Amino acid sequence: MDQKKVTIADLQKKKEAGQKITMMTAYDYPTAGLVDQAGIDTILVGDSLGMVMLGYESTVPVTMDEMIHHCKAVCRGTSRSFVIGDMPFMSYQVSIEKAVENAGRFIKEAGCECVKLEGGTEMAHVVRAIVGAGIPVCAHIGLTPQTATKLSGFKVQGKDAESAMELVNSAKALEEAGAFMIVMECIPDLLAARITEEVNIPTIGIGAGKDCDGQVLVYHDLVGLFERFTPKFVKQYINLAPKIREALVQFREEVENGDFPGPEHGFTMKEEEAKKI
Ligand code: KIV
Repeated sequence: MDQKKVTIADLQKKKEAGQKITMMTAYDYPTAGLVDQAGIDTILVGDSLGMVMLGYESTVPVTMDEMIHHCKAVCRGTSRSFVIGDMPFMSYQVSIEKAVENAGRFIKEAGCECVKLEGGTEMAHVVRAIVGAGIPVCAHIGLTPQTATKLSGFKVQGKDAESAMELVNSAKALEEAGAFMIVMECIPDLLAARITEEVNIPTIGIGAGKDCDGQVLVYHDLVGLFERFTPKFVKQYINLAPKIREALVQFREEVENGDFPGPEHGFTMKEEEAKKI
């Protein structure tokens, strides 16, 4: 496998050549290593970590410090994949200055390659300012979990012609503002295909059909480590949680009945030394 870091130019070339782009979330050092070794193009340190790693009800409470902490671990575990740091709720909405400063932390402190932020046309000025400061931005439209309350819940977006056209226009505005890639979450397949055709930058789908330039899933959903709920768009490739539970129960039972540790797990000392104690 080519060990050179994936670049924005590589991702753009993939779109132009009609080759699919892969993205996976990761939030810690060992997982980042696995994703990197699997040849996945980009790692998203998503604010979904609030739910799958920290046990919050939603992504809303996630803080900048929590994001930076996890991004640092992911960057330490990555050598090839392009690492995207997800800007948490209220880290880019308050003012342009705050948005640029917080985006800078992902690059300077954590070592990410770029940031991602949620929102359409209304966020284009923020994207422009962050890109203007030299920080690449991946946009995120459709179902934007940080503002799910405003969207009246976790629902498919762009189902009628008016809201669909708003999303097409948002994608164009974000591209024009300098975003290098757009994540599209929970929108009709046909609309995702239309946006993918209309913009020149790569689109990455999650619940947006197969015609996007690439696909992303949340790691914990893919490997069966998040059991609270599973969205319709998820494909679970392996169900690890029951296997891990089984191993933990076996450990508990073996300790309780004296089967673990065995002699092969222990250390010996010379007999003459043993006699002295
Ligand atoms: O936070 C996240 O993991 C995301 C993906 C669902 C795209 O934004």
